[in-house]
Amino acid sequence: MTPEQQLREEFNRWAEAGRGEEMEKHHLDITEKAIRLMELRPGERVLDLSCGTGWATRILARLVGEGPHGFGQVVGLDISDEMIRHARAASRDFENVMFVWGSAQQIPWEENFFDQALSVEAFYYYPDQDRTLAELFRVLAPRGRFFILINLYRDNPYSLRWVDELKVPVHVRSEAEYVQLLQAHAFEDVRAVRIADDTPTADQYNGKWFKNAEELREFKRIGALLLSGRKPDIRSLAPACQIY
Ligand SMILES: C[S@@+](CC[C@H](N)C(=O)[O-])C[C@H]1O[C@@H](n2cnc3c(N)ncnc32)[C@H](O)[C@@H]1O
Repeated sequence: MTPEQQLREEFNRWAEAGRGEEMEKHHLDITEKAIRLMELRPGERVLDLSCGTGWATRILARLVGEGPHGFGQVVGLDISDEMIRHARAASRDFENVMFVWGSAQQIPWEENFFDQALSVEAFYYYPDQDRTLAELFRVLAPRGRFFILINLYRDNPYSLRWVDELKVPVHVRSEAEYVQLLQAHAFEDVRAVRIADDTPTADQYNGKWFKNAEELREFKRIGALLLSGRKPDIRSLAPACQIY
């Protein structure tokens, strides 16, 4: 089985177990803060990379709706066809969203298209992060911006115990390593900021991801890592000319 087939199967299991919808609860606070920093404008075209059940896709769709420059569109992409099925079922009332089954390593979309891209809690799963960054560079419009939000990174030690709990391999890099990686892909204005999760934490914790409530509280205080960057004002090569 290839790493991508493994990801598809694992996240199909998550979707079938209802964990896709649960993620909204865990990621909403930090995602709303990240979306605020995107400063979206009506009419923009946005990619939600690894959209899961599409709850963030729908937030983005409301923000880019109708505006002076036309009707904004949001594309949600995920490697799990089950997640995509859930996302489509929950988004029937939206005219400006589309969900596509595919890989972040081969984004099935034309070059120079999206004004912005968001990826929530998924980047560390991508088997070849360089390839995904090359794909983001290709599909973003000149001066288009991306925002990658991750909870699992080396500088938040409380996230590292997940590495053994997750059933698929993940990358564990530090903030500094990620910044270097983004710069190596020729993105401009590369930034890394921490986004604390300000939701209250119950005194009892019985889950498997943290030792106890105190650890969960500390994890939220250190916060998620939000990486962002901008494609320079150039047109990328068409896919056929791109060398991976
Ligand atoms: C932890 S979930 C987060 C989902 C969603 N962004 C959210 O916050 O609810 C990770 C998601 O990444 C997707 N994913 C993992 N590897 C992927 C890949 N190579 N290409 C596209 N999506 C991928 C999974 O299918 C899953 O939906």
